[in-house]
Amino acid sequence: MAGHGAARPMVAQAGTPLRGTAPIPGDKSVSHRALILGALAVGETKITGLLEGEDVLDTGKAMRAFGAGVERIGEGAWTVRGVGVGGFQEPDNVIDHGNAGTGVRLVMGAMATTDITVTFTGDASLRSRPMGRITDPLALFGAEARGRRGGLLPITLTGATNPLPVQYTTPVPSAQVKSAVLLAGLNAPGETVVIEREATRDHTERMLRGFGAEIATEATAEGHVITLRGQPELRPQTIAVPRDPSSAAFPVVAALLVEGSDVLVPGIGLNPTRAGLFDTLVEMGADIAFENRREEGGEPVADLRVRFGPLRGVEVPPERAPSMIDEYPVLAALAATAEGSTIMRGIKELRVKESDRIDAMARGLEACGVSLEEGKDHLIVHGRGPGSVPGGATVGTRLDHRIAMAFLCLGLAANRPITIDDGAPIATSFPSFLPLMRALGADIREVGARETAL
Ligand code: S3P
Repeated sequence: MAGHGAARPMVAQAGTPLRGTAPIPGDKSVSHRALILGALAVGETKITGLLEGEDVLDTGKAMRAFGAGVERIGEGAWTVRGVGVGGFQEPDNVIDHGNAGTGVRLVMGAMATTDITVTFTGDASLRSRPMGRITDPLALFGAEARGRRGGLLPITLTGATNPLPVQYTTPVPSAQVKSAVLLAGLNAPGETVVIEREATRDHTERMLRGFGAEIATEATAEGHVITLRGQPELRPQTIAVPRDPSSAAFPVVAALLVEGSDVLVPGIGLNPTRAGLFDTLVEMGADIAFENRREEGGEPVADLRVRFGPLRGVEVPPERAPSMIDEYPVLAALAATAEGSTIMRGIKELRVKESDRIDAMARGLEACGVSLEEGKDHLIVHGRGPGSVPGGATVGTRLDHRIAMAFLCLGLAANRPITIDDGAPIATSFPSFLPLMRALGADIREVGARETAL
């Protein structure tokens, strides 16, 4: 779990071009869902390519605590013996989801219509993130939540005894909120309906369909209307988790930052609800070839061949935000080396991620000598052109894996090294980041461990 034990400061500096192949681990969003739906099916689900990062391992532990059999049988290969919809047992201890917003929010949804009481907590980052967006819709099913003031974790949630089906319009574009409601709807009789004005990642819907649930998505004038029939018997599945486009973003951007680079990133998930960064990079003039397009595990994938080249700043359409919500930190880092300004609007959700990512990027980029403008809902980075980011700063990563990786990538193209105060949270989503980047030729090193106050 991030945030406990030793901080791991790291430093990145310019060196040789990046070359070679970058094997990206499994998709974090898909991995969480595979464990949760596996635990709700009747029988044994087999998963390959599971992301073995701390966030996902915490979800695996939670599923075990609820009574499912979760076993590792090889590298990335896991089996889950499910207990069936409504079959969760009451855990005999607090469920700690570490740094994982997706983990805690989806699991709260999955247990909210079963008559058990569970206390959830997480690390300092997760304990500061809003949970009312989850507990409010779960209350409509009949679940009762008691948390700290402001609806923060730790939260004790008592599932509904006689759940009611719910119709809910999500107030923010959030796949976590949508998924929590759908997972709660699994154990409610009748139809649960979620309406989202802007489409967000649809892994839950795809996977529910795969497990045999009756679920339909309709595009209407109001937005996407997703209808799920409750109390299905979920059939166990064999799931091949695609490689994570949000993790791929880091070596892809690093190759675009470092002069002379040429990197192959194979088998990356390109679900349109996730692939917005790649559209933006192409608009900036990035040299990316999408080779060998195919389908794996029900998701579109391709091999990405990325070569360094000059980039121009762009305005990212705000409606693209949900499909690249986790990629703004690394885009902001890249934008610092583009010609002209990159304008990012409609991004206020970044303020409630693992950290306030608008503030974390703004402070870090300023420390590295990059000028910018920021507001409640926007960030504008004034690019300095290739090879002209001063660097030479130590950046606070605020228990946020993506802030840590974004600044290490920028350090590879800065005039002076960039240090991050703590790279430990990288293990939540991308445990192989350091060896993978070093194998490509990146000069990223740990600078000695020390105890953190957290
Ligand atoms: C996720 C949804 C997104 C994203 C997170 C993963 C998911 O969060 O930022 O990293 O797997 O459903 P929101 O739903 O809060 O936008």
